[in-house]
Amino acid sequence: MKFIVAICLVAFGACSTLPPVPVHPNEDIIQQALSHPGSRIIGGNDAEICEYPWQASLMFSNSHVCGAVVVSDKVAITAAHCVSWAPSSYFSIRVGSKARSRGGLVFAVAETVVHEEYNVGAGAFPNDIAILKFNESIIGPGAASVANLPDENSKDFAPHRCTITGWGYSVYGQVLPEVLQKAEMTVMKPKWCTDVFGSYINDGHVCLISDDSASCNGDSGGPLTCGDTLVGVTSFGALGCPAIYPSVYTRITYFRQWIKDNSGV
Ligand SMILES: *[C@@H]1O[C@H](CO)[C@@H](O)[C@H](O)[C@H]1NC(C)=O
Repeated sequence: MKFIVAICLVAFGACSTLPPVPVHPNEDIIQQALSHPGSRIIGGNDAEICEYPWQASLMFSNSHVCGAVVVSDKVAITAAHCVSWAPSSYFSIRVGSKARSRGGLVFAVAETVVHEEYNVGAGAFPNDIAILKFNESIIGPGAASVANLPDENSKDFAPHRCTITGWGYSVYGQVLPEVLQKAEMTVMKPKWCTDVFGSYINDGHVCLISDDSASCNGDSGGPLTCGDTLVGVTSFGALGCPAIYPSVYTRITYFRQWIKDNSGV
């Protein structure tokens, strides 16, 4: 509570109502991974990996810290805040398994490319995107299949019903679920999200809302897909992951050229 008020005072000057406090959905998951080597979506349901075959668990020293999305045989996309704090040699991904901590195939990350302007400038964690590169193919039987990348000029996807997936908290602050979770969300018009989060939102964000679902810590870097098209990766939300606040994702169309320039995909 102290934390909420402190942040709120800095950001808004005064707090008469519950403030929207943007936090990365991953800070404490990363802390846990660091202190306990070997460690959901709110309001979601169990998913099968064959429904979302592009979903990867991004691991730091073999512990889940984030999601990632496979977009070609040797490239995956995640959030910058998932990988910006450690050398690439600590990271690997697990693909082809709905279980967070077993099954499927594990591949070492050969290189991470963090957006050069991540967290530069105004707003909440702008340019929260990174590329993971692999030496071997990460797709195929027992491994991943790719999510399609959208055209740069495709529409804003509002008010489509699309899906978020991940192994983040299903109850805030408790243990991460072992089985991949999915939830259907409505893509918001950018203006609706700005009405809630103000200048934290820019053209590089896409926001989602639902009556009872939200992304939460541990979902970061994971996908928002409309059909088999990757529309966003989890960036931030309100502290504690209340469903009354939007879940904020990095907008892939906005970074389409950057992805191409840095990965060839
Ligand atoms: C990937 O290949 C490069 C170049 O051969 C090599 O230096 C690096 O160690 C490899 N990384 C992994 C994780 O296999």
